[in-house]
Amino acid sequence: MSGAGLELTTTTVAGTEALAARLAAALAPGDLIALDGPLGAGKTAFVRGLAAGLGLDVRLVKSPTFVLHHVYGSPPRLHHLDLYRLGPGARIGLLDLDGLLDSAPAAVEWAGHADLEPWRPLNVVIDIAGDEIRHLTVHQPERAPDRLVIAWRAAVAGA
Ligand SMILES: Nc1ncnc2c1ncn2[C@@H]1O[C@H](COP(=O)(O)OP(=O)(O)OP(=O)(O)O)[C@@H](O)[C@H]1O
Ligand SMILES: [Mg+2]
Repeated sequence: MSGAGLELTTTTVAGTEALAARLAAALAPGDLIALDGPLGAGKTAFVRGLAAGLGLDVRLVKSPTFVLHHVYGSPPRLHHLDLYRLGPGARIGLLDLDGLLDSAPAAVEWAGHADLEPWRPLNVVIDIAGDEIRHLTVHQPERAPDRLVIAWRAAVAGA
């Protein structure tokens, strides 16, 4: 697959949320969205957009920095994890990612703190390029299922 269509620049938080909402339409149980980028990049904003796209109450979406895991919807429609507090080299065995992914897709903030490769994540990296300017890029798309990369490209094209 070529690298075209893997990047998008947003200029508002609403733009980032809208991209994620378009991607959400394609998500199914087992799908993992790995989010990386510095503090305040917009990882939680992206998850808010996923929740909106799944028809969930976006007011519930908060960075789960202190609890590691939130679940939205009943039955679960989206899992939201944040590995910030675990730090680099996080051991995530206790989080039972397999079990979570059985019921719904998951989005993980600070994903780079753990080795998520066995779960074949779509790795979205958000770079801060200005007050409200964010570059969103899929890294190593070959590690994700083609279906997720195609869905990402469609979400970008719909911008
Ligand atoms: N284009 C944009 N996309 C996303 N967020 C934006 C954008 N422009 C400005 N922002 C602002 O950047 C901040 C992003 O915060 P958010 O909590 O989503 O970051 P985060 O990556 O989850 O940070 P943390 O690592 O602390 O969890 C918000 O205040 C949001 O309003
Ligand atoms: Mg966050």
